[in-house]
Amino acid sequence: MSTPDHATPTHAAVSDVADFVAALPKVELHLHLVGSASLDTVLALARRHPEVHPGQGVPTEVNALRRFYAFTDFPHFLEVYRRVNLLVHTGADVISLVAGLAAELAARTVRYAEVQVTPVRNRMAGISFADLAGALTDGRALARQEYGVELGWVFDADSALGPPGAEETVDFAVNHRPEGTVGIGLGGAELGVRRADFAPAFRRARDAGLHSVPHAGETVGPAEVWAAVTELGAERVGHGIGSAADPRLLELLAERGITLEVCPTSNVRTAAVSSLEEHPLPTLLAAGVPVTLATDDPGMFHTDLNAEYLHCHEVFGLSTAELADIARAGARAAFCPEPLREAILAEIDQVQRATGG
Ligand code: ADE
Ligand code: ZN
Repeated sequence: MSTPDHATPTHAAVSDVADFVAALPKVELHLHLVGSASLDTVLALARRHPEVHPGQGVPTEVNALRRFYAFTDFPHFLEVYRRVNLLVHTGADVISLVAGLAAELAARTVRYAEVQVTPVRNRMAGISFADLAGALTDGRALARQEYGVELGWVFDADSALGPPGAEETVDFAVNHRPEGTVGIGLGGAELGVRRADFAPAFRRARDAGLHSVPHAGETVGPAEVWAAVTELGAERVGHGIGSAADPRLLELLAERGITLEVCPTSNVRTAAVSSLEEHPLPTLLAAGVPVTLATDDPGMFHTDLNAEYLHCHEVFGLSTAELADIARAGARAAFCPEPLREAILAEIDQVQRATGG
């Protein structure tokens, strides 16, 4: 039966796009292991380890946990994040986080993900570097075998622990180097912390063959993105949305092919931007900057990668062809083995052809 002329199939159209996004093979290049934990996983951890860090608790009841995840601003988010991180005490906890993440990624047709892990914070919660490395290696094998998802690790320094914490992060990455290690990162607050202070640690990591993928320009303007590129040798930038205010920087990112890992829902949930409608993603795309979509901390922000793609259609008007191009940009920016990249790109072409998207 043909569609009558007067019909406006808005819902059908959106569900077609949702089906397209669900089928589209994707990579996810910016998410944190602890921040990916589902509500159920966090509740189980909170119940398993109730008294370990007195006064630093996490709710053990689902509605209270949902309220706990209503962030008033970025510092509040970081404080909540720190408390949840303290729940992860053992290698077995780490493996269950990786398994939960892999199941979630597979359900969203994510073929490859780079996952940020903060080893110095994990050690502060009671896991030795050796146990952490072993758990990540085992978890990664499980993700591949059980879910068909390939994982890479980015070890990020928490800016609150300063350059000494970054040096210890590099010690972990270089001396333990669990299978799948691809990069070095820098997370935590940006305000009052200069990326440039972390240059020596990043230099040592890069000399050891690690890729440089710091957060920058998440809650502050373009100056820290400049610093990430010029001082830390950033090959991709976490968020980088502050770049939108600086046409010269946008030109540089486009020219050098430095990909921004853009996490729209995260930016709204941490109040880094006031709404999706005001998110600078369209400015970045219009400037020709390579952009990959990501979720950052999907368990805490109540999002998933398919939802991020769908927002781009609904809020920014991206077509299915443009969404497929974003998926391709991610595959090109991934630090994955070349055959996997080729396979993902071929699969994206195939899905696009099959759906006429
Ligand atoms: N750690 C976890 N999520 C983060 C974010 N969005 N920014 C900085 N550090 C983080
Ligand atoms: Zn992040």
